[in-house]
Amino acid sequence: MSVVRSVIRGTGSRLPERVMANADFAGMVETSDEWIVQRTGIKRRHIAAAEETTVSLAEGAAREALAAAGLEPGDIDLIVLATATPNNTFPASAVQVQRRLGIHHGFAFDVAAVCSGFVYALTTADLYLRGGMAKRALVIGAETFSRILDWQDRSTCVLFGDGAGAVVLEAVAGEGTPADRGVLVSRLRSDGAHEQKLYVDGGPSTTGTVGKLRMEGREVFKHAVGMITDVVEDSFAALGVAADDVDWFVPHQANRRIIDASARKLGIPPEKVVVTVDDHGNTSAASIPLALDRAVRDGRIRTGDLVLLEAMGGGFTWGAVLVRW
Ligand code: UT7
Repeated sequence: MSVVRSVIRGTGSRLPERVMANADFAGMVETSDEWIVQRTGIKRRHIAAAEETTVSLAEGAAREALAAAGLEPGDIDLIVLATATPNNTFPASAVQVQRRLGIHHGFAFDVAAVCSGFVYALTTADLYLRGGMAKRALVIGAETFSRILDWQDRSTCVLFGDGAGAVVLEAVAGEGTPADRGVLVSRLRSDGAHEQKLYVDGGPSTTGTVGKLRMEGREVFKHAVGMITDVVEDSFAALGVAADDVDWFVPHQANRRIIDASARKLGIPPEKVVVTVDDHGNTSAASIPLALDRAVRDGRIRTGDLVLLEAMGGGFTWGAVLVRW
């Protein structure tokens, strides 16, 4: 049976030039390199300069993904951009990227699922491509979390960073088997009962301000591994594969301990796990496409590989995608 599959044609990324190491928090909050590395695995993160924005980072990542795919901006008829830190309340950052790329056809919109944003955006774009409403999509995760951090709160300000990653998806005919290239299965979940564990304390309809990120880290940690492994197991069952079939595990990069525990529980060995949290910190929706781009460019992820993506974050939202490269 012939089906439509969304194949990843290229990846790209953009990180701000400024790197902030753990030691750079000295004098700002009471913390230490030792605490941050032991509890999170984070060593450094990139922080946007004044003129850098979510949209400018997204544009950089998108242009790199287009070049990797050998395509022009005009070839794209859908942009789905995942962010919790848009340039403006509206228009959508995706539409601003569309303008910067000089695209005047098709459609573009943002997806708000915080750290799960890229998994949600990829799933959304895949459905539009499979439904025949678009042929080639840019899926972007872009964030400037430095702008919504409380830099006096040591329990959150050391954890996050800025950046953007992008992939180009193209609709192609597949056989309808797990051997096909492209997005093979997605599973998304949310449960608003956990809203108060990770949120921003402002917004246009409440305070009229942007607000700052607030998190009960321990509470989020407590739920993370179980939620992640549950939705991944669901994806395995839906596709009829097992952990052994996975070539690369590219998780959301929030905390090294969450990544390691999830991989262990799923039975995926450390050498198959792509880790960037040490260099990027938690870049929310950008973390998975940034990690993907690194593993593609350094030659780890190759055509035909089965790649497992998962994320969990504010809401709570969580989800997993299996894609054959
Ligand atoms: O991407 C979206 C999803 N988000 C996540 O996945 C984040 C999930 N949570 C985590 O990654 C971890 O819970 C944290 C890294 C946020 C915290 O690690 P933890 O092992 O859960 O530490 P904790 O919150 O239980 O805090 C332990 C201690 C506390 O001191 P007391 O109460 O034991 O005296 C904190 O006040 O560490 C203290 N602490 C710090 N100490 C030094 C908290 N932040 C810091 C800091 N430096 N930056």
